[in-house]
Amino acid sequence: MFNIIIFGPPGSGKGTQSEKIIERYDLTHISTGDILRQEISDNTELGQTARQFIDRGELVPDSIIIGMLENKFNALQKSKGVIFDGFPRTVDQARALKEMLNKRGERICIMINLEVENEELIDRLLKRGETSGRSDDNLETIEKRIKVYESLTAPVVDFYKNEGCYMGIKGEGGIDEIFRKICMAIDTKRMA
Ligand code: C5P
Ligand code: MG
Repeated sequence: MFNIIIFGPPGSGKGTQSEKIIERYDLTHISTGDILRQEISDNTELGQTARQFIDRGELVPDSIIIGMLENKFNALQKSKGVIFDGFPRTVDQARALKEMLNKRGERICIMINLEVENEELIDRLLKRGETSGRSDDNLETIEKRIKVYESLTAPVVDFYKNEGCYMGIKGEGGIDEIFRKICMAIDTKRMA
């Protein structure tokens, strides 16, 4: 399997680029944010718990996220590979993912970090918030999310640098231009 992590701060374009990547490489998309939003709209117990964290711009606890991810991964039909979008968001989640993949003889082949300046992130999230129906549609929640990203999520970068599969890509500019850079990085890894 060719497994990818698409990583970056909120508003960096993970979801947008994931759609294009799965189409080109025929991968399975696992977006923990999308799963959580579905649980919330289905009003499940998990959704009700998750909502309290999401509405505050905080992270849902590792144990919940890791359990949810494992269920999703176990239910996978035959797949050429997975793109993990919005996961891992903490170093503990990264460790759990490594263990989960190891047990199946799998690994992460490339971790793509979409690098975007905070000012641009805030602009994009405010814009998205006008139509998304998401709770991060106001400056207060957006700034909280960026703070949480910097303190809990950014350290995940070093984890994957140590794993030797890290690739930083500038996530500013046109969507297609960014996608081209991502494809170049993926193709280089696939041929290696
Ligand atoms: O990935 P996305 O940005 O769509 O996630 C939306 C929200 O879901 C996050 O702001 C966070 O509150 C929650 N989440 C989380 N842990 C994850 C993924 C999402 O807490 N691994
Ligand atoms: Mg997303």
